Amino acid sequence: MPLPSRVKLVDVGPRDGLQNEKQHVASEVKIELVHRLQAAGLKEIEVTSFVSPKWVPQMADNATVMAGIQRQADVRYSVLTPNLKGLEAALLSRPDEIVVFAAASESFSQKNINCSIAESIERFEPVVQAARQAGVYVRGAMSCALGCPYEGDVSAEQVGRLAAMMKNIGVQHLGVADTIGVGTPNRVRQALEATLQHYDLADVSGHFHDTYGQALANTLTSLEVGVWQFDASVAGLGGCPYAKGATGNVATEDMVYMLHGMDIETGIDLDLLIDAGQYISDAIGRPTNSRAGKALWTKRQTH
Ligand code: HMG
Ligand code: MG
Repeated sequence: MPLPSRVKLVDVGPRDGLQNEKQHVASEVKIELVHRLQAAGLKEIEVTSFVSPKWVPQMADNATVMAGIQRQADVRYSVLTPNLKGLEAALLSRPDEIVVFAAASESFSQKNINCSIAESIERFEPVVQAARQAGVYVRGAMSCALGCPYEGDVSAEQVGRLAAMMKNIGVQHLGVADTIGVGTPNRVRQALEATLQHYDLADVSGHFHDTYGQALANTLTSLEVGVWQFDASVAGLGGCPYAKGATGNVATEDMVYMLHGMDIETGIDLDLLIDAGQYISDAIGRPTNSRAGKALWTKRQTH
């Protein structure tokens, strides 16, 4: 199959990136980050999550952040909702899209959302229905699709079973998530193929954490399968609070550098994206995790 000529990137930095940050990050910083991402040309931004603030305190300012964004008409803003309570609160913030998240492994489901996979599907069904009735698009994430921090290997069959359940309750788009970044290309291909048994190519995306440095290789394999939508996180921020040791998503800057180098369009201005990455890295007092970001920033300082 020829590689896609255009890729859509969803920056999940403000949510997946910052949710694991121990120090308090001010709402104004999160809002400025979103503004910088949209200025760089991102058309989809995962802004925050309406989860329990006891579980993830960093996302407790969800409504404030959503209210503070100066929205662009051509940008879609998404938020995570784990249950009806979260959806009801989220809808007041007028997201374009909500994300429900289930796990391909039982242990991770328990640790992350405190219920079994089957219970999570039961819990999500009314959330999906209510969101769709409200005209809000529903995306799903399948965590641990390439491996689980508690159970180890996760098979493509487990991924396929979960994809079928998500389809059955009306989830419109499904992301194959490598929560702990352990996946390698052949396994990614199998997980995507299992998902594509239930979803069209246009409704599937990759969400690769880069813990083991495999995310770009996994992205290239996904492109070969025909997948053209990916989540990424500016400056490679983040990790999941319920996956110890897991690091951030693949850096958006690294994805853009690779894709543009392959003449694949993203609509993103890499220079402005690097500014956004540097802004948030400075704000949290940590060097960027983006290799391309670091290299191009250094080059800029020395020229
Ligand atoms: P629970 O404790 O079983 O829920 O948590 P509960 O219904 O018994 O409620 C407990 C308390 O939380 C109650 O308050 C509720 O009102 C409150 P209390 O009576 O004790 O004062 N509560 C809420 N408050 C605000 N918003 C809500 C909400 N729901 C309940 N929506 C629950 C179950 C699902 C809520 C909890 O486990 C939770 O919030 N989990 C979220 C964990 C999370 O955010 N993980 C990270 C995001 S997922 C991720 O990063 C993976 C992804 O990137 C893909 C990948 O890489 O794999 C998407
Ligand atoms: Mg994630």
